[in-house]
Amino acid sequence: MRDHLIIFDTTLRDGEQSPGASMTKEEKVRIARQLERMGVDVIEAGFPAASNGDFEAVKAVADTIKDSVVCGLARAIEADINRAGEALRGANAARIHTFIATSPIHMKNKLRMSPEQVIEQAVKAIQWARRYTDNIEFSPEDAGRSEINFLCRVLEAVIDAGAKTLNIPDTVGYTMPDQFGRLIRTLRERIPNSDKVVFSVHCHNDLGLAVANSLSAVINGARQVECTINGLGERAGNAALEEVVMAVRTRQDFFPCDTRIDTTHIVPASKLVSGITGFPVQPNKAIVGANAFAHESGIHQDGVLKHRETYEIMRAEDVGWGANKLLLGKHSGRNAFRSRLKELGIEFESEEMLNTMFVRFKDLADKKHEIFDEDLHALVSDEVQTPEEHYRLLSLIAHSETGEIPFARVVIADGNNELHAESEGSGPVDATFRAIEKILNSGAELQLFSVNNITSGTDAQGEVTVRLQKSGRIVNGHGADTDIVVASAKAYLSAFNKLYSKLEKAHPQV
Ligand code: KIV
Ligand code: ZN
Repeated sequence: MRDHLIIFDTTLRDGEQSPGASMTKEEKVRIARQLERMGVDVIEAGFPAASNGDFEAVKAVADTIKDSVVCGLARAIEADINRAGEALRGANAARIHTFIATSPIHMKNKLRMSPEQVIEQAVKAIQWARRYTDNIEFSPEDAGRSEINFLCRVLEAVIDAGAKTLNIPDTVGYTMPDQFGRLIRTLRERIPNSDKVVFSVHCHNDLGLAVANSLSAVINGARQVECTINGLGERAGNAALEEVVMAVRTRQDFFPCDTRIDTTHIVPASKLVSGITGFPVQPNKAIVGANAFAHESGIHQDGVLKHRETYEIMRAEDVGWGANKLLLGKHSGRNAFRSRLKELGIEFESEEMLNTMFVRFKDLADKKHEIFDEDLHALVSDEVQTPEEHYRLLSLIAHSETGEIPFARVVIADGNNELHAESEGSGPVDATFRAIEKILNSGAELQLFSVNNITSGTDAQGEVTVRLQKSGRIVNGHGADTDIVVASAKAYLSAFNKLYSKLEKAHPQV
C-alpha cells in the first residue's frame, strides 16, 4: 500500500500574509469550501490571535467545513492557544498548530530567550493545547537554520508532551533540496520517539526552491506538505500546492506515496484565489499558468497532434483546464442561478441579497452571452467583498478621444448622500482615480493597478486590482465589469473602503 501524503493548505494563513492579500471572512469561507471540494486534508484557516477579524474568519471556516481538518495557528503562549481553541470549537475536526523559533538568530535577537527556556515554553504550549484537542502540530520556526542537536532535543520533548505532527519550516527559504531532505532523514533517525509523529514540511520560496525542498523532504520520509494555492505566501511565497500534488501524481514511479487530491479542482481553485486576492498568475506558471499546456513551436504542435505524450507529461483536463462550465444565459431563472451558486459553495444570508445578485447577473448576461463560473465568482466578490462598504460607485462617465485630454465625471454614494466630482487625467482610468480622490481626499499611495481578463474574448469582464497604502497599512481592492474603467473605479473604492474598515489585520509573529 502506498503511503498517504497529507496536504496541508495554508493559503488562508501564510498565503494571506502576502502584502495586500488579506481576505474577508466570506472570501475565506469560499476558498475553504473549494479546498474541501478538492480533497485537502488540513486547511489552516488563519491565526486567531492576530486580530478579531482573523478569529471570526477561522471560526466561520471551522463552523462550515466538514470533510477537512480545520487548523488555527498560535504562538507557543497560552493566550494565543486559547484564541485558537475557541475559534475552532465548532469544527468537525480541529487542529492547533503552535510554533516557537529555534534558530540561534531568532532565539537571541527576536525572542531574547535561552535555548532551555524555548524548550520549556514549547512543552508547556503543547500541554496547554491538549485542553482543546489531541490533534496538535508543532513547528520549530526557522528550523532550516537551527542547530541540529538542539532541534532534536526540542522535538523529542514536544513529542513526549503530545504533539502529533512535527512541521519543519524553512522559514526564510535558505536550504538546498539535498540538505533539507537530509535534515528530515536525520531528524527521523536521531529522535528516539520519532515514529510516534508525522513529519511535515513548510518551505518558503525565497530562492525559488520551496517545491524542490518539499519534494526532497517527501523522498526522505516527510508525509505532510504545507503549501498554498498558486504558491501564495509571505515574501516570495510557499510551495505551490498544484506543483507538489502534480509532481507526486505524475511521478508515481518515483514517490512512494500519493495524495487524495481531486486534481480536476486545481485550476478553478487557482482562479478563485487569484480573483479574490488580486494576485495574477504568471502565464508560464507550472500547472495553472495560461501557457502551461500551450504549444507554440510547430514541431511541438505536430508531435502532440501525432501522439500527445511526445511533449505533454500531464493532461490539461486532469488539472481542471476547460472545466469551467458554461453556466447560464440571459434566459436562465433564479433557481438555476441559485443552485449553480450553491454548487460553487456560495450561499447568501438573505433572499434580498440573492435578488440583488440575480439582477446583477442579468445585467451581465445582457452584455456578455456566455457566463462562466469565474464570472460568477467575480460578481459575488464585487458585491460582498467589503463588509463595511461605505462608498459606492453610482455612475461614471469617462471620455477618451484621440488628440483630446481624457476626462471623467463620477458620482459616489456616501450613505444617502451623492458626491460628484470631475477631473482630467493622462487616460480615462487616471482621470477617474483623480476624480474619486477629489471626493475622498484619502492621500493614499497607489501601489498597484492591474487588469486581467476573467475569461477569454473581448466581451470578457476585466478584473481590476488596486493596491493602496496609507500609514503602513496595505490593502487590495477588486472590481469586475465588462467596462474596465468602471471595474477600475469599483476597485479603487473597494480598496478605499477596506483601508478605512475597522477590521484591523495584524500578524504578530514575534
Ligand atoms: O514560515 C514559518 O516558519 C511559518 C511557521 C509559523 C510555520 O509560517
Ligand atoms: Zn511560513
